[in-house]
Amino acid sequence: MLAGQRRDYLSLIQADFTDKAIPGNGKIEMSKFEKTRWAVNEFSQDYRDDANIYLPFRSQFFEITKSFYEHFISQNIKAKILDLGCGDDLFIQELLKSFAPAMVTLVDGSIEMLEAAKKRLGNQANLHFMQASFQELFANDTLTEHFDFIYSSLAIHHLPFAEKKKLYTLIHKHLSPGGHFVHYDVVVSSVEQLEKWYLSLWRQWIQQHPAEERREELLGIPNQYKSNRDNIPDTLDSQLEALEQIGFRNVDCYFKYGIFSLFGGSK
Ligand SMILES: C[S@@+](CC[C@H](N)C(=O)[O-])C[C@H]1O[C@@H](n2cnc3c(N)ncnc32)[C@H](O)[C@@H]1O
Repeated sequence: MLAGQRRDYLSLIQADFTDKAIPGNGKIEMSKFEKTRWAVNEFSQDYRDDANIYLPFRSQFFEITKSFYEHFISQNIKAKILDLGCGDDLFIQELLKSFAPAMVTLVDGSIEMLEAAKKRLGNQANLHFMQASFQELFANDTLTEHFDFIYSSLAIHHLPFAEKKKLYTLIHKHLSPGGHFVHYDVVVSSVEQLEKWYLSLWRQWIQQHPAEERREELLGIPNQYKSNRDNIPDTLDSQLEALEQIGFRNVDCYFKYGIFSLFGGSK
């Protein structure tokens, strides 16, 4: 997760979740959503409460994604959207203020997050909520549709690289011809000095944004983000390359602020 290690969740879960060789058979065990802190309601509640005040330029990331949507998709009145790792889905709420897609499918591993998204968005007929982990999706492919716009924010960095590639492959498979994938997420720099500066940029943002009485507590978030084993960011380059190898076209990074990046590709 990006934040909220303010409570001791480690005692609640067994944080043994990364790719692991199974002794003897050489197979790689898949990571498990249930073993991450996102499966703990208090943790996801902290994110819902505070993300808006500690995520730098979050509204600008949304605006640029909406501009992308307007430019490439809004003319399609039958547009189908998929949001992977939707959380409480502030983004879809913002999108629906300006556009009227035919259908939006919201997927998350956390039932509490889906409930929060339902509360935020209401029970509209064109919204479909689906509880599934990414791991279940690429293992069983329970998605039945093709989508014109697939979006994900701040969720896929919880997968190890091999699983990111599996999910990107599934995304490509479920894009309609000409469809687009837009991914807003944290990445890691391959240059240590730059990574340090990016984290201090994030701290500077937090210095300037939340109310003064919350600042000290929230200033610890960049360090918590770095030490939380649920966060497995990869470099932007490696992910752009993976998208191209999978077959995405027009792969590019559309906006970047420190470790926060908006990138994607089309089918
Ligand atoms: C940092 S929150 C982001 C939520 C929302 N997309 C946003 O931008 O505010 C990460 C979300 O990804 C979900 N998530 C994390 N790992 C997941 C996985 N392996 N499968 C499905 N959902 C996952 C969490 O439950 C959480 O809702």
